[in-house]
Amino acid sequence: MKSYRIQNLESYFKQYKKSVKNPQKFWSKIAKEEFSWYRKWNKVLDFSMHEAKFSWFEGGKLNITENCIDRHLKEHGDEIAFIFEANDPNEPAKHISYHELSREVNKMANVLRSQGIGKGDRVCIYLPMIPELAYALLACARIGAIHSVVFAGFSASALASRINDSSCKLLITSDGGYRGNKTIHLKSIVDEALQNCTSVENVLVVKRTGEDLNMEEGRDLWLEELVENASDQAEPEVMDAEDPLFILYTSGSTGKPKGMVHTTGGYMVYSGYTFKNVFQYEPGDIYWCTADIGWITGHSYIVYGPLLNRATSILFEGIPSYPDHGRFWEVVDKHKVNQFYTAPTAIRALAKENLEWVEKYNLSSLKVLGTVGEPINEEAWHWYNDHVGKKRCPITDTWWQTETGGIMIAPIPFTTPTKPTYATLPLPGIQPALMDENKQETVGNQVSGSLCVKYPWPSMARTIWGNHQRYIETYFSAYPGMYFTGDGALRDEVGYYRITGRVDDVVIVSGHNLGTAPIEDAINEHPAVAESAIVGFPHEVKGNALYGYIILKESGEGRDRDNLKREINQFIADHIGPIAKLDKIQFVEGLPKTRSGKIMRRILRKIAEGQLDQFGDTSTLLNPEIVEGIVENRQ
Ligand code: PRX
Repeated sequence: MKSYRIQNLESYFKQYKKSVKNPQKFWSKIAKEEFSWYRKWNKVLDFSMHEAKFSWFEGGKLNITENCIDRHLKEHGDEIAFIFEANDPNEPAKHISYHELSREVNKMANVLRSQGIGKGDRVCIYLPMIPELAYALLACARIGAIHSVVFAGFSASALASRINDSSCKLLITSDGGYRGNKTIHLKSIVDEALQNCTSVENVLVVKRTGEDLNMEEGRDLWLEELVENASDQAEPEVMDAEDPLFILYTSGSTGKPKGMVHTTGGYMVYSGYTFKNVFQYEPGDIYWCTADIGWITGHSYIVYGPLLNRATSILFEGIPSYPDHGRFWEVVDKHKVNQFYTAPTAIRALAKENLEWVEKYNLSSLKVLGTVGEPINEEAWHWYNDHVGKKRCPITDTWWQTETGGIMIAPIPFTTPTKPTYATLPLPGIQPALMDENKQETVGNQVSGSLCVKYPWPSMARTIWGNHQRYIETYFSAYPGMYFTGDGALRDEVGYYRITGRVDDVVIVSGHNLGTAPIEDAINEHPAVAESAIVGFPHEVKGNALYGYIILKESGEGRDRDNLKREINQFIADHIGPIAKLDKIQFVEGLPKTRSGKIMRRILRKIAEGQLDQFGDTSTLLNPEIVEGIVENRQ
């Protein structure tokens, strides 16, 4: 298996060249030699960029859990798949071997089958970061059910809308979950959500916090009791390479969240291949990705990618600041972590604390550091490099998206020379393009533009659940013949990419992708609000924070402003989740609009950023007088 591990720059360029010259041959070899299939595919790739139709390994038959688990059992079943590190540092870590993982996944798969769940059914998973979360994804994949994980920080109404969008038949949750010094009462959020969901027939409840619960008769079942009586052998469902594996929702710049659909074969090949190369994982290493499985990072680089490579990973329930700001480093020291993958927002938050928190622990096991989710600023990059990696661990700044399924642009540790704030070079098989305002590709180096991808790759999302037209419009229409990422980027003099941020109305707050439109929709439902506009502005720790400009209805005018602000944020927390709360709220008389009635967000962004002399062309403004008032009262 060594052959597909890139170990020097020469082999990177060689593989890259091959992957562009003949992508089908390139991926076909990897798929065949690194994974097991029940039946080989008829055709490696069939596609139309215009219709957004992609089919990888068509006719190939497989089950991804066979690749993640079963094939390791004979010789390596006693090796550890997951080390569960609980929120409370005093709770002993739990080591879960591949054998144990197999038993747990099969049992849960049998439970799902006994509840009438089968191939193609959607199962919503709303769980904290406990081992059952990983088991649940794999149990679905075992029986061909499509998992739809909803991050356990989302509110009841956000959960309900995701359940309804894909008509989930079953929901797996827990009584509660621990996060730092808080207990989250998940089951009561579920109860509230399900008042508005008719598709869910049963709820399986994992016991974590042991709190008292309302168990609805005929609907709610304790998972533990069912698992106890289930067999630990479960035949894997034979899946077609293009059968959906999961749906994962991501915010859009307009309207409701998009259920990105990922399929089985291509996703497996790409997540496995990229994990191996981007983290340079070697047998015996301990790898830790601090993301939540509720996001794509957790799907691809806690569950599927590592297991496909027979890795040992940490599954961490907690947060970086609990019980103190040394927690990450304490865990690295305790388990002798070799690869550590986290988000810039966590690095920035920890960099603000006393250095002693890092220096207290022995971090000499670390070999590779990674970041994901948002651009990493230079200061945070250096802090990570100096104090965590002690200048001896390459930092792989990985750029990718929920839609891409796997890492697209990233330095390969010990191979690609790193450069702070640069994701550097595309991985083999990925052909980026920078597009100018005239929709032409900008060639050569030292250029910038909208980041697109010119050619399909195996783990790209295949559609938006229930709305293929929206998929075409969002990703394949702005630059015909290309996949449009929504990000801007520049390419430096040696061809390295630096992602500069979103070019649409999505704001990345603490690494979370938030569409401004759904937040505005939520605010506008507040009885005192007439209209609102949300923009992002730079924030020291979160990367970006949200700034809301809000017009009140007459009835709201007399209200206490501080109370209103609190209410509006509570409204957002209830509708979407606490992560979408606004940092700043300004009540305004009106919003700057074009003659055609569109809000000029560019101006609002500049005001939020404090760049008051950079409004650009304002000649199309219908109401320039409004801008002065907003500037005067800026928060
Ligand atoms: O804007 C880019 C940013 O995160 C967006 C994707 O968000 P999401 O689908 O939630 O997936 C996050 C985890 C893969 C991208 O469009 N982003 C992600 N990684 C980076 C990044 N921006 C800059 N540098 C990165 N390394």
